[in-house]
Amino acid sequence: MQHIYLDHNATTPIRPEVVEAMLPYFTGTFGNPSSVHWAGRQAKQALETARDQVAALIGAKSSEILFTSGGTESNNLAVYGVLKPRGATPFRIVTTPIEHSSVLETVKALGTDTASVEVVTLAVNSQGRVSPGALEAALTPDTALVSIGLANHEIGTLQPIRELSPTIRERAIPFHVDAVQAVG
Ligand SMILES: Cc1ncc(COP(=O)(O)O)c(C=O)c1O
Repeated sequence: MQHIYLDHNATTPIRPEVVEAMLPYFTGTFGNPSSVHWAGRQAKQALETARDQVAALIGAKSSEILFTSGGTESNNLAVYGVLKPRGATPFRIVTTPIEHSSVLETVKALGTDTASVEVVTLAVNSQGRVSPGALEAALTPDTALVSIGLANHEIGTLQPIRELSPTIRERAIPFHVDAVQAVG
């Protein structure tokens, strides 16, 4: 039987040129980039080149790029990293019901574990879009984080992040955007 694979958003084969570019780092240049010896320094240089390339891809500064093991760890780091310093002070998190489970479960765990955390889940329309007006209405002075993904992993909806962000920025609220499905 012939199979047709239609789940490239979940995972996709690596392009041959990427395999070719990566191969030296599994064999010759295999040092730990945190080590100070020659092998480590070679690996570190390659890592910094990769950091520059990723930064150029998304229009960021190299110093703003942190490598993690993947999307789940990145989302955990962003959500917990912003919220942990809040301690016992009550706060609100604003998100949507169609975020990836690595965001929704993290936020849900925070809401369940701590009585002082209020999770507000904004409704989305039939295309999966958040209304800028509904977002604005949900932003209270105790809102500590807004988490809205850029490209949805199931239905492909692109959220109007450019339109949503000014109202969040005006209030100096951290805005977490899961862009895992958008970069490529
Ligand atoms: C939108 C989104 N966020 C996060 C993740 C989690 O990424 P990872 O599988 O690298 O942990 C995925 C995975 O497909 C995703 O689609």
